[in-house]
Amino acid sequence: MTEQALPNGVNLIKAPKHNQQQSLKDAVAEGFKRTPKSTPPLFFYDTAGSQLFEQICKLPEYYPTRTEHKILRGNARAVISIVTGEVELVELGSGSSAKTRILIDAILANQTHLQYIPTDISTDFLLESSVTLKNEYERLSITAIAAEHSDALQLLPEGGSQSRLFLFLGSNIGNSEPEEAISFIGQIRRRMRAEDRLLIGFDLVKDRQVLFDAYNDKAGITAEFNKNLLVRINRELGGDFDLNLFDHHAPFVETHSRIEMRLISRCAQEVYLESLGQRFDFKEGEYIHTENSYKYTLKGFESLCEMAGMKMQKYWFDERAWFAVGLFHKASGG
Ligand code: AVJ
Repeated sequence: MTEQALPNGVNLIKAPKHNQQQSLKDAVAEGFKRTPKSTPPLFFYDTAGSQLFEQICKLPEYYPTRTEHKILRGNARAVISIVTGEVELVELGSGSSAKTRILIDAILANQTHLQYIPTDISTDFLLESSVTLKNEYERLSITAIAAEHSDALQLLPEGGSQSRLFLFLGSNIGNSEPEEAISFIGQIRRRMRAEDRLLIGFDLVKDRQVLFDAYNDKAGITAEFNKNLLVRINRELGGDFDLNLFDHHAPFVETHSRIEMRLISRCAQEVYLESLGQRFDFKEGEYIHTENSYKYTLKGFESLCEMAGMKMQKYWFDERAWFAVGLFHKASGG
């Protein structure tokens, strides 16, 4: 494990090389063999992709971030009051830590010092937001873990005398297939003690047009975010994708209760990837499936968590019931 001391008392833990995520090259080699061709969503988040995602969060059509913020603003104190004693905050996939500030404020109203452990796949982004946060909060110490979620859980330091509040916000859980979500929540559970709590933000099934618009915005930022994957493949794998020959399209697929992010080939074409030494054929209308974003019912999500051995203690949602935040503890037994 590499541990690096940084200015401002921010610490960084980086996943060792051998258990760092699958490379883009391996992911593309594997994913492009499938029908439809697919790529895992974590490759969206290079520095440019993380910035584009920040822009998505500000789009008028993209309600999840805004709605979750509002739920947290209204209920942060209630959340914190349920966790007993002093709290340590662990956030999986922290991004810019914007919504975390609401919880940090609520915690620091009750205790003098807070240990915050954000984890994120993008090291640069993680460090930048950690330093910004540390500059804003004197009474905060930060141990940032640069790793993919599962690795980050492995690298998590042992807890001390404080209760831990684990955060998995922003509907990030929606990227996982239900079975994967159960296994991932199970992994978090294994790092939790009886007094610890897990706060998950998840997106709810709603009006189809509202769902569609959130992933097919007028300004075309989501399209740019999606196509950034091709930019990245071109740059990192010596690809010759012509961005103008692919269209972004993100339909809601009823049968799976999920938005599917797609990049559709406008015509029959061949793409060459130098680092794989391979050509890939695309038919007209054929698409690369780049992401799933699952939408849940409250009951559906609760039972999914039960399968992972977690019990929902309380939940909050907005007045339109578009988004929900649930607080979970370990179910007894097991
Ligand atoms: C970061 C996975 C929560 O699914 O809404 C936003 C990613 N993709 N617009 C989501 C995303 C397209 C986002 N998550």
